[in-house]
Amino acid sequence: MSAPSFDSLLSRGRIAGLELSNRVLMPAMDMNLCVDGEMSDGEIAHYSARAAGGTAMVITGTGAVAWPIGATSLHQPAFSDDRFIPGIRRLADSVHAAGGKLCMQLCHHGKTASVDVAQGRPQLVPSLLEGQMDMSALRDNPMSELMALATATQGKKATYKVADEDDLAWVIDQFAQAARRVQSAGVDAIEIHAAHGYLLSSFLSRGYNKREDRWGGSLENRVRLTCEVVRAVKAVVGKNYPVLVRVNGYEYGLEDGLRPEETARAAAFIEEAGADAIHVSANAHNPFADFTQGPLPTEIAQYRDFAKKIKQHVTIPVVAVGRMLPEVANAMIAAGECDFVSMGRQLLADSDLVIKLQRGQYRSVRPCINCYVCVEQNFFDGNPKCAVNPALCNESVAVLTPMFKAKHIVVIGGGPGGMEAARVAATRGAKVTLIEKGSRLGGTLWFSQLTTPANGPLLDWLTFEIKRLGVDVLLSTMATSEVVKALNPDEVIVATGARRGLPDVPGADLPHVLTGDALRSLIAGDDDANVQSLSRLERSLISAGRSIGLLRNAARLRALSKSWMPVGKRVVVIGGSLVGLELAEFLAQRHRLVTVLEQGQHMGLPMAMPRRWTAVSAAKKLGVVLIREASVISISSVSVRYRSGEEEFEVRADTVVVASEVYPDSHVADSLKDLSVPVHIIGDAKTVDYIEGAMHSAHEVARGL
Ligand SMILES: Cc1cc2nc3c(=O)[nH]c(=O)nc-3n(C[C@H](O)[C@H](O)[C@H](O)COP(=O)(O)O)c2cc1C
Ligand code: SF4
Repeated sequence: MSAPSFDSLLSRGRIAGLELSNRVLMPAMDMNLCVDGEMSDGEIAHYSARAAGGTAMVITGTGAVAWPIGATSLHQPAFSDDRFIPGIRRLADSVHAAGGKLCMQLCHHGKTASVDVAQGRPQLVPSLLEGQMDMSALRDNPMSELMALATATQGKKATYKVADEDDLAWVIDQFAQAARRVQSAGVDAIEIHAAHGYLLSSFLSRGYNKREDRWGGSLENRVRLTCEVVRAVKAVVGKNYPVLVRVNGYEYGLEDGLRPEETARAAAFIEEAGADAIHVSANAHNPFADFTQGPLPTEIAQYRDFAKKIKQHVTIPVVAVGRMLPEVANAMIAAGECDFVSMGRQLLADSDLVIKLQRGQYRSVRPCINCYVCVEQNFFDGNPKCAVNPALCNESVAVLTPMFKAKHIVVIGGGPGGMEAARVAATRGAKVTLIEKGSRLGGTLWFSQLTTPANGPLLDWLTFEIKRLGVDVLLSTMATSEVVKALNPDEVIVATGARRGLPDVPGADLPHVLTGDALRSLIAGDDDANVQSLSRLERSLISAGRSIGLLRNAARLRALSKSWMPVGKRVVVIGGSLVGLELAEFLAQRHRLVTVLEQGQHMGLPMAMPRRWTAVSAAKKLGVVLIREASVISISSVSVRYRSGEEEFEVRADTVVVASEVYPDSHVADSLKDLSVPVHIIGDAKTVDYIEGAMHSAHEVARGL
């Protein structure tokens, strides 16, 4: 495979008077590590790591110009007083020392200013709107999450104030004062937040702004507040000092919301007011329904066309965002569709992205898997964590120190936990032997690509890295006590995953009742025992698929499964957790009539919230019947009986897939008790916590060896 070119992405660029070493920016992402608005060591370490990793300019998570007024959190950066300047200067100095440039995002949060609610102030809005947002998705949030969601507002009810002339003059002045403080602290640029439903963007959007005065109605009037802020800020910071403005290219789920054509015309006004760059994001009106459209899109380069459109209407640089892959970003810049890209979650997943691209190590970039685990914490007013990068918000663990004395580590289990443990141990200088009983690496991660393709790059990365690091991989090998002993390890890590069982009900042993693993093995033609239960035609199809290697390629297998799968028309999935829900969607997309029976009250746990909300609604749109609080009583060859409340029901089923009954399983570790070396258990073998748990526990154990 020839290495892709990143010449355009890595070329120098300029915004106003600021020279930038390449075209990769990090967009604002709340880390929530400030203490009462004061910059903290944790924030500084986070941004400095991304600067050291080659990012041309990092933009800080949104800060409040009039903090705590108009603030969304007490943990976000505050700009409302000169006393915050020394902390900001510490951040700027650190980012500069790491070789990067620093931009701070300035905001008034308007109708999402949770701190106003908590402190008993009305939220500032352009207009009072009627109607309630559909919050039915919250039914899949357990009480603990509902309580956490109310943290920032302290559970109080919001009240609103329609902004008058005095309020708006005050807002404009607050932005100007904040800009002065930020510039005086040595920060290189400012981004004015006019996106994501906050105050400026709510004025800009016809969907929220119903005014009939000079701040509402025509586009020119609606964009006036943003333009006035830009003018006031530019008057303070001067012509050469870069002022970026972040806008929504699209407002999903909002009647009369912004669309690219209108945003493009707004951008022209904003340029005329003095802005130096436009950063094209997007938003969704109802986060409970559409958060995975905006501001955190699911599709790769989902906002590409929005940026392209806006670029046609302005002469200043345009920054594109939204699941940018380096190769797509490079192509966009080369084609003149945008001038810069900002890569958010990818830079949370790997702070060294740019340096790796510069060194030609693009395959060593740890990929973001679009799982939304990071941003879920923001809903709780917490600090993001990354499923694949345990160092997020804890940069002290990012550097893997060499082992004092190189050890021989045997890792048992080639799933994500085992591979990550092998990677970390090998990076630290250990000799690592990885034993996998199957014929390929990946374990459940390999299978999960079928239902969740975004997981594929993680497996590719782990596979590439352990090969690059010289890990000795023994496939199709059972890790018996004798085999492990013969390898003479200093320490052993067991990452053999969970045990997946069948429910203890009559009929669970019928041949059409499969565990999730068995189903996926069947689709992949892996499991001979299950394959034998198929028809002769199906068996010969599987045998043909195996012989041409078709069944070893997840992407091709996923495509193939659209036309053929050894699964009946009516499928009952027992268990509506993360795995069950993803499987149900996968099957429904393949024209199966799917019913999910979940014993608990909530679907999709422990999937991170915004994705859970979307997955539930996507499954429903595909016709999946979701039944909560359903206890399975029995299974027959044609149906499943279950109890819901006091009543019993029956649902027809040609195939039954059991996605519940997943338990930690330490039997391999138990069988190694006689070894006289430390044996560590990680991942699902210890606690069922899927990819995040596997990656984090592996990292923790392997860096402590
Ligand atoms: C944890 C997290 C926090 C975010 N906080 C902000 C924010 O403070 N201000 C903002 O404009 N966007 C925020 N965003 C949105 C990002 O700036 C970015 O636009 C979005 O993640 C899409 O880019 P990506 O697909 O490269 O991640 C946040 C995103 C994440 C993941
Ligand atoms: S938590 Fe998930 S979505 Fe967020 S950066 Fe990490 S891998 Fe990406």
